[in-house]
Amino acid sequence: MLGLGAIRVSGSCSSHIIARGERDVCCEKGGERERERERESESAFSRMICAMSSGSALATRLMTTTTELPAMHISRSVSFLTSQQQQYSYYSFLHTCPRIATFTPTKQLKLLASTERISAMASSHVEKLSPSSVSAENPVECGSSVHDASSSSLETQASASPKKRPADENIRDEARRQGLGAPRCTFSAKYVPFSPFEDTEEEYSLDEIIYRSKTGALLDVQHDLEALKKYDATYWKNLFDSRVGKTSWPYGSGVWSKKEWVLPQIDNDDIVSLFEGNSNLFWAERFGKEMLQMNDLWVKQCGISHTGSFKDLGMTVLVSQVNRLRRMKKPLLGVGCASTGDTSAALSAYCAAAGIPAIVFLPANRISIAQLVQPIANGALVLSLDTDFDGCMRLIREVTAELPIYLANSLNSLRLEGQKTAAIEICQQFDWEVPDWVIVPGGNLGNIYAFFKGFHMCKELGLIDRIPRLVCAQAANANPLYLYYKAGWKNFKAIKASNTFASAIQIGDPVSIDRAVFALQNSDGIVEEATEEELMDACAQADLTGMFTCPHTGVALAALIKLRKNGVIRATDRAVVVSTAHGLKFTQSKIDYHSKAIADLPCKFANPPVQVANDFGAVMDVLRRELSLR
Ligand SMILES: Cc1ncc(COP(=O)(O)O)c(C=O)c1O
Repeated sequence: MLGLGAIRVSGSCSSHIIARGERDVCCEKGGERERERERESESAFSRMICAMSSGSALATRLMTTTTELPAMHISRSVSFLTSQQQQYSYYSFLHTCPRIATFTPTKQLKLLASTERISAMASSHVEKLSPSSVSAENPVECGSSVHDASSSSLETQASASPKKRPADENIRDEARRQGLGAPRCTFSAKYVPFSPFEDTEEEYSLDEIIYRSKTGALLDVQHDLEALKKYDATYWKNLFDSRVGKTSWPYGSGVWSKKEWVLPQIDNDDIVSLFEGNSNLFWAERFGKEMLQMNDLWVKQCGISHTGSFKDLGMTVLVSQVNRLRRMKKPLLGVGCASTGDTSAALSAYCAAAGIPAIVFLPANRISIAQLVQPIANGALVLSLDTDFDGCMRLIREVTAELPIYLANSLNSLRLEGQKTAAIEICQQFDWEVPDWVIVPGGNLGNIYAFFKGFHMCKELGLIDRIPRLVCAQAANANPLYLYYKAGWKNFKAIKASNTFASAIQIGDPVSIDRAVFALQNSDGIVEEATEEELMDACAQADLTGMFTCPHTGVALAALIKLRKNGVIRATDRAVVVSTAHGLKFTQSKIDYHSKAIADLPCKFANPPVQVANDFGAVMDVLRRELSLR
């Protein structure tokens, strides 16, 4: 067994050799140097574990570096591999390693398992690994292996049949059984005042019900970056890649696949997730080529989501935290929000999923039927108020100051933690290459800051090397940020927003104005605006190339068209337009456009249906006429 020596594994860690058998490692009374070697080895081990779950190709690539791993780690690592695929990848890796060509894992594991001391060490190793593999709930989901390691034989774990959930167990139970419900967590986050230019000692636990600082500033969720930095970029990339899109609770979600960067301390059992995020990054081939002479234009389809808008990303975080607070017996009657439609839809769905009462304040006759029907169908208490969004916002703030109703508007910084994962996801989808531009429609201006935060965090933790230039796109009828930008960021004035087809961003007094300015100033950002005609035409043109855009996405597309025309965005740039809602929520505006039924709008790209009599000749006449014209 000891002849096994060491196997080569990789990672980006420094070149180092620990070429000794387990006995040597166990018995030698090493000094600091020895401990240092152990630490390096363990770090390589964690990385390897992480990589194993990504498949054997990556594992093979790992062998090209020179770090070596003591044999004992092999047994430990197998105990971490919960799926047959992962074990297979690992074995393939071992067998392709020239130094252990004759290695038979089963035999080695048997021997290892028979050594009590090794077993005990494996268990202590598991303890030591907790920051990365347990708290981080690494991609191999230590799960039952973690709990079994101290007591049961490693052989049993290694040769166990692939993880299979008993018929009477759901995925939440499964996660709980695997010990993922109460992670030993070394990552943390807290509320601090959003005051980027001032030092402050003020901070609050995320378990407090608080929305503003002592001075009335908005709050920000601040992560312990130093703890996160203990794991390198490769670790995080592999971890995120290994989780997303699966059904393991809750990591299959695009948001919770990045849990350590979102709400690290929440118990998985408290999470309310509908497997949100992980949305399509659509290559806008025809629109880019024909309209803009671009071939690297993308649309991040955040609206192709559970409730049809990007709000799901933030709402899963907020409702999960409320769920946790309620379980902690904090006296909360329910969750409330003022909304231009999408927030109330997301809040109602997540609350309904968790059995938490939702109360929504909506401006009467200013949101689409599709948006209104969502909270109604999900059982929320819907108050339709004779005012605009800003009026609803004022009222909900007053109400939540009186009643124990948790405020879910985007001044609540928890939501931004979920929304920022869309930015991380864009990087991930481009294999961690940074686009040149990201264009985001803005109303209350939380989302533009969330995008900045996501990119900034990726940069801080070494996953990307720069932040893309951000563009905030506003409707010209609701453009306080645009006016502020044009005035050189001097004398911000709230405005009375006029009607716009982009009704969700019809906001004149954006709550996150300071956050947005910070995001734009730190990303060499730009603010652009779009008139009603520009935004509706942009929607129609995009739809004619296969999309089905909402008016807010139209605002972002119109901004792109302008910036491309004036040469700010170049033909060769890679640009991402953030589509914030599903077009099906806004069908009335499309019907009006294509019926040319909008006053003062030429509707240049309308494609109205042709009314034809129920007669073969009439049908043929129309086809001849239309097809020869087109
Ligand atoms: C569809 C849609 N797009 C864009 C936005 C703007 O996001 P924010 O208010 O964070 O700027 C909203 C917000 O309600 C929205 O619902």
